[in-house]
Amino acid sequence: MVKIDLKLLKKESEKEIEKAGSIELLNEVSKKYLGKKGKLTLVLRSLAGLSQNERKKVGTEANELKIFLKEKIDKELEKMNLVGSVNESEWIDITIPGKKMHSGHLHPLTLTKRKVEEIFQSMGFSVVEGPDMENEWYNFDALNIPKDHPARDVWDTFYLRNKLLLRTHTSPVQVRYMEKNNPPLRIIVPGNVFRHEATDASHEFQLFQIEGLMVDKNISVANLKAIVGEFFRRFFEKDIKFRLRPDYFPFTEPSFDIAINCFACQSKGCSVCKGTGWLEVAGAGMVHPNVFKNSKLIPKDWQGWAFGFGLERLAMIKYKINDIRLFRSGDLRFLNQF
Ligand code: DAH
Repeated sequence: MVKIDLKLLKKESEKEIEKAGSIELLNEVSKKYLGKKGKLTLVLRSLAGLSQNERKKVGTEANELKIFLKEKIDKELEKMNLVGSVNESEWIDITIPGKKMHSGHLHPLTLTKRKVEEIFQSMGFSVVEGPDMENEWYNFDALNIPKDHPARDVWDTFYLRNKLLLRTHTSPVQVRYMEKNNPPLRIIVPGNVFRHEATDASHEFQLFQIEGLMVDKNISVANLKAIVGEFFRRFFEKDIKFRLRPDYFPFTEPSFDIAINCFACQSKGCSVCKGTGWLEVAGAGMVHPNVFKNSKLIPKDWQGWAFGFGLERLAMIKYKINDIRLFRSGDLRFLNQF
């Protein structure tokens, strides 16, 4: 007879069942007591060697314990199955508050570009693009820029090994477009331009320009002023005073610079406008006859105006940004403000 204290066995096995915590361990506990060679099984097997009296007493007690343990193990197993068949490692506490998702947003230059496009599209302009890599013909010759013009100098222009260059302005697209499309036409050309420049708070070597071109039979500076004035009103969302002053560009005649009155000081003169009361935002003019000729159009048949805005400049004025280098700095303290 195996001498085993059934009370102790009960205590011990109960504790182990409660502590098990996983199906695997519970199965082991079950095997340890109720398996073929389990502690309780051995007790039951050894009953035959006992006297009748003792067999009855120990047998009843052992059988009760067997039922008790089976039930207890089943209950525990049921509890575990309720938690699901998910592994412990996959278990998720769904009551923990969620992590906030950080969604991206548009870059201030993209926002500005889209706003400009929307305004011009509503006035009947199409949005047209051209290549960043240009040749000398479109970037300079076709635009009536003489061979000895300083802008062609290696200091201003990035020349590439393949005899092309990075366009220094969006004006070449005027010619590219007029070669393929007959007037009347109204286009704007958004795009990057590149200049071999030292950078500071108001100079970058990569800029974003918006070129404008309107050609028809009877176009004058009055049309230019009307369109540009309407653009300013809608872009800055207030009434804007602006002025045209004579300037020089080889591809327009006459040429102008366009300036708006300084918001910061109501044109009294401050550090933003460098004491002048005006902020220059664009170059413009009436399309030069040679540009029409180079675009395979007969100059006397057509009239047109063109302008070139700096997008960074517009964004800097609208959002009060004081350093042009911030746009491409990747600095999140700046970008997250938009
Ligand atoms: N392309 C000139 C520049 O980058 C800007 C410009 C001036 C564009 C006059 C024009 C224009 O279309 O008519 O400085």
